[in-house]
Amino acid sequence: MLQMTQIQKIYRTELIETHALRELSVTVQEGEFVALTGSSGSGKTTFLNIAGLLESFEQGTYLLDGEDVSHLSDNERSAYRNHKIGFIFQSFNLIPDLNLFENIDVPLRYRRFPRADRKQRIEHALETVGLASRMKHLPAQLSGGQQQRVAIARAIAGEPRLMLADEPTGNLDTTMAQQVLELLEEIHAAGTTIVIVTHDQGLASRAQRNIQLVDGKVLEEESPHTQEEIPQAVMLNGGEPLAAQL
Ligand SMILES: Nc1ncnc2c1ncn2[C@@H]1O[C@H](COP(=O)(O)OP(=O)(O)OP(=O)(O)O)[C@@H](O)[C@H]1O
Ligand SMILES: [Mg+2]
Repeated sequence: MLQMTQIQKIYRTELIETHALRELSVTVQEGEFVALTGSSGSGKTTFLNIAGLLESFEQGTYLLDGEDVSHLSDNERSAYRNHKIGFIFQSFNLIPDLNLFENIDVPLRYRRFPRADRKQRIEHALETVGLASRMKHLPAQLSGGQQQRVAIARAIAGEPRLMLADEPTGNLDTTMAQQVLELLEEIHAAGTTIVIVTHDQGLASRAQRNIQLVDGKVLEEESPHTQEEIPQAVMLNGGEPLAAQL
């Protein structure tokens, strides 16, 4: 589904260069549920943004569904993203003056689905996240956890093949985080490939595979089941590796 080889991403400002990803190689198979962990600044969001075709990169290759997407134009990238990828942003990215129905409708309109089809998709997505009765509410009239679920509904309404989620439970209490996780597991069971970024080790352990980033590289890959036996390996490089370069 997703194959990145030796990806390099450098953010440049006048004063400093930040090597956000260094020769990062990651493969995610179709149908997998992968959790990405790593300390703050290790490159998780950068990875997701590149995977979701929201950002470009300097070096390396990225194959999405076997197709090289390294050199697409902005328009081509948007079209690709809109058709294949659902993105759940940590900060929700809901549009404040649109109600829930309209928020979920935005990417569907972009794809020019007929009105009746859009309506059905939106209602189904809101039902899936348990917010069907709230579709006329504005985002500000919802709790943080409910807004998070709208962000998920928006991502699933287009029936993406690949779902990318940046800390989808970061702002939620344990019960709500559990519900969101169960929702993602349902989407996964229905056939969607999922990559989530999380700080929550408990959540990561529910995924089929964990990938840990350190300093813009993959440290190691462990199945959640063996990870408990070697916690040292996970902790060793857990500091602030990028700080050293600045
Ligand atoms: N737009 C940008 N301009 C300059 N540097 C950036 C930019 N975005 C990210 N970086 C830098 O790239 C590195 C990786 O950032 P990234 O956001 O991917 O980390 P992260 O693993 O998602 O961290 P967190 O857990 O705090 O969200 C950091 O050092 C960050 O400061
Ligand atoms: Mg991040």
